[in-house]
Amino acid sequence: MKIELSDNKVFFKNNGSKKEIHPFWLRERVNGKDFIDKGSQQRLFDPTELKGNIKIKNVSLSDRYLKVAFDDGVETKLTIQSILKEFSNVNDIGLIEKIEWDSSLNNLNNFEFNNNIFEEKMMYEALISFYKYGFVIFKKVPTENNFIVKFANSIGSIRRTNFGEFFNVKSKPNPNDLAYTSLPLAPHTDNPYRNPVPCIQLLHCIENEVSGGYSTLVDGYTVTEKLKKDYPNYFKILTEIKVKYQFIDQDVVLEDWSEMIKLDENKNFKQVRFSPRLDFVPLMDKEKLDLYYAARNKISELYNSDTYRLEFKLVPGDLLMMDNYRLLHGRTSYDANEGNRFLQGCYIDYDSTEGKLKHLKRKFKI
Ligand SMILES: [Fe+2]
Repeated sequence: MKIELSDNKVFFKNNGSKKEIHPFWLRERVNGKDFIDKGSQQRLFDPTELKGNIKIKNVSLSDRYLKVAFDDGVETKLTIQSILKEFSNVNDIGLIEKIEWDSSLNNLNNFEFNNNIFEEKMMYEALISFYKYGFVIFKKVPTENNFIVKFANSIGSIRRTNFGEFFNVKSKPNPNDLAYTSLPLAPHTDNPYRNPVPCIQLLHCIENEVSGGYSTLVDGYTVTEKLKKDYPNYFKILTEIKVKYQFIDQDVVLEDWSEMIKLDENKNFKQVRFSPRLDFVPLMDKEKLDLYYAARNKISELYNSDTYRLEFKLVPGDLLMMDNYRLLHGRTSYDANEGNRFLQGCYIDYDSTEGKLKHLKRKFKI
């Protein structure tokens, strides 16, 4: 990549192609103290109020800088590095490669908590691990009531829902969700009926005195890739048909429609939703429904198979952080008469983890 000049025009050269950089694009980036607030790095002017046909009056190039004078009297000095960086304008997070895993995964991505962890390099490593595997477990997190709120807000901002700022996972009388019983919970994603679906779930174990109640995780990404390879027609229909997800209680009716496997604009994995207690398949031709039900059964079989399900016990002080767009989670049943099992959960969104990760990357010059 290289910048070149010719006839008061600036060109960007890359892989044998040479393209002019629009003068207005450069004018938008003027960076003197009258144009950019030094602290926030935000513009002090509104480019939509400028004339669109601004031209370059004078331009010069050195090893490190591009100096431009525009015909509206404004001059600026831009670093070459900052211009080149914009031509690889991608979100770094998307470049972290997802690692497919199944029940043979030995590394449970453990990181030991300390009070300063949120500003330490270890948190950067934990977040990288989170994006690679879809989960991490912080050990020895203080088992104080509501500590999860403090934890979540130290990464970003908690995502409040109608279940509250956080929720207590323990068996209770007259529950409005099966999570609040001692029944087993098959692998599922949380809140598929919400728009948008909460991105990340945090689950903090305060007490776990029962012999059952194991936590389970399944990598929806691994299962999706398996389905795509071995059952392409099932994969196709699950990525095409929008299903209604619904939650109803006395105070609220929540509904959202989405594919069970959602792909991004490049047809790559984006999100899975799976919660057989809450989904309503649309009325379609009988043949299409035959195919849809077969596809749903197959993905359910894969999600529930021993091949993909990781099973482990959370002990007091463990805080599991999991990607609710990628992973499914559940638990085995337990006997509430054996003792207490008490977890606290809450949600955060990707802006929290992305923002923290990028901040730490900048801080440690990684
Ligand atoms: Fe859940």
